[in-house]
Amino acid sequence: LSDGPLNGKHIVVTSGPTHEPIDPVRYIANRSSGAQGTAIAAALATLGATVTFVTGPADMPPPKGVRVIRVQTAQEMLEAVQAADKADAAVFAAAVADWRVANAGANKIKKDGSGLPQLEFAENPDILATVAQMKEGRPPLVIGFAAETDDVIAHATAKRARKGCDWIVANDVSPETGIMGGSENAVTLITADGSEAWERMSKSAVAQKLAARIAEAMS
Ligand code: C5P
Repeated sequence: LSDGPLNGKHIVVTSGPTHEPIDPVRYIANRSSGAQGTAIAAALATLGATVTFVTGPADMPPPKGVRVIRVQTAQEMLEAVQAADKADAAVFAAAVADWRVANAGANKIKKDGSGLPQLEFAENPDILATVAQMKEGRPPLVIGFAAETDDVIAHATAKRARKGCDWIVANDVSPETGIMGGSENAVTLITADGSEAWERMSKSAVAQKLAARIAEAMS
């Protein structure tokens, strides 16, 4: 364990996409490399936090020095977050699928000429909102992300209120920014005090700056 300002603090981090099965071999998902969530978990561990890292199937390995819980679906991610020990903070960096397939097949759907499969969707639980609105045992600092393509601050401020979280890390993912899938990020931190635009920097620098802010807020 590293020695640092977050020693003795337990922080839950969600990361990566979720996979929602259509049948045993097919799924729907969001595009997410897991890069930002992985970097945040690593930065928090470096500052001494005990990190529970709840990750969907991401492109990259989880960081060293964290407790890893691997999940596939949004429902599994929610259950893993709820089963984790009481947390001092929670960072929801996962790109959770908003819907799951309600009529997922137990067997592979066959191309047998009987027509196209008809998928029915059901809404997934909102993990961030569920935790942010917990009546008992809510982590004192709950942080969500907002990927927006326009009116970033207005939409992210509204999202902060709607979800009931403390901070929102908002970023502009319009295609011209090249942020989606890239190694850099330009974020605006939205708190109760207003918004603060950070200069464009690497995802690991964003993670380190966010971890430092979390340490400051929890000291
Ligand atoms: O509503 P939207 O998906 O834009 O919100 C993004 C934020 O909410 C992220 O922090 C994401 O991890 C979280 N989220 C969640 N569960 C969902 C959907 C989003 O935790 N089902």
